[in-house]
Amino acid sequence: MFITFEGIDYSGKSTQANLLVECLKQRGCDVLFLREPGGTAISEKIREILLDRHNLAITQKTELFLFSAARTQLVTEVIQPALKSGRVVVCDRFYDSTSAYQGYGRGLVPDDVRTINRIAASGTTPDLTLFINVDVDEVFRRWRSSGLSADRMESSGRRFFEDVRTGYQELAKSEPKRFITIDGMRPVETIHAEIWRIVQTRII
Ligand code: TMP
Repeated sequence: MFITFEGIDYSGKSTQANLLVECLKQRGCDVLFLREPGGTAISEKIREILLDRHNLAITQKTELFLFSAARTQLVTEVIQPALKSGRVVVCDRFYDSTSAYQGYGRGLVPDDVRTINRIAASGTTPDLTLFINVDVDEVFRRWRSSGLSADRMESSGRRFFEDVRTGYQELAKSEPKRFITIDGMRPVETIHAEIWRIVQTRII
């Protein structure tokens, strides 16, 4: 089973992914936890290039190809073998991030993004995608209170994040069975309890 988490930066999706993985492990599930971009030596190197805020010259299409290159390496080297051996794979982001960020956020041609996503995923599709939906105002509040400086992607501005969020909402509408929207404005434990209920119904 392949479960992915999606959402804009500071939506709390990584916290929720961690909580789910812990819960699965406690119940004896053989689970592999990954993040995108990353999860292999090569993909982590690509991540550094993508998030380095000094790399201002990266074009939108270069960005699309780099995220996709990191993904195809992860899919081939790690995800496909793990799924084949019966493990549950939980991934913090997958190709829906590319549709939302590079497609809706950057405004690249949707058909091009879909094609590149298809090539990079090599036929691997999430069984369940949990979209943690939060207001952009809340994201900026969380970011300010974290005291962290913005990476290259996070420096993209408010309008960009509004577009990315709209993108996720559209994606959720187009695939309601796979793509579940979770209200991320609630307390962490309430969100986790809802996610756990959903995952249990899919795993059994
Ligand atoms: P993270 O902060 O959740 O680890 O994600 C890294 C950043 O990369 C985040 O701003 C979202 C962005 N991203 C894309 O723009 N496209 C993608 O395909 C992926 C996987 C991430």
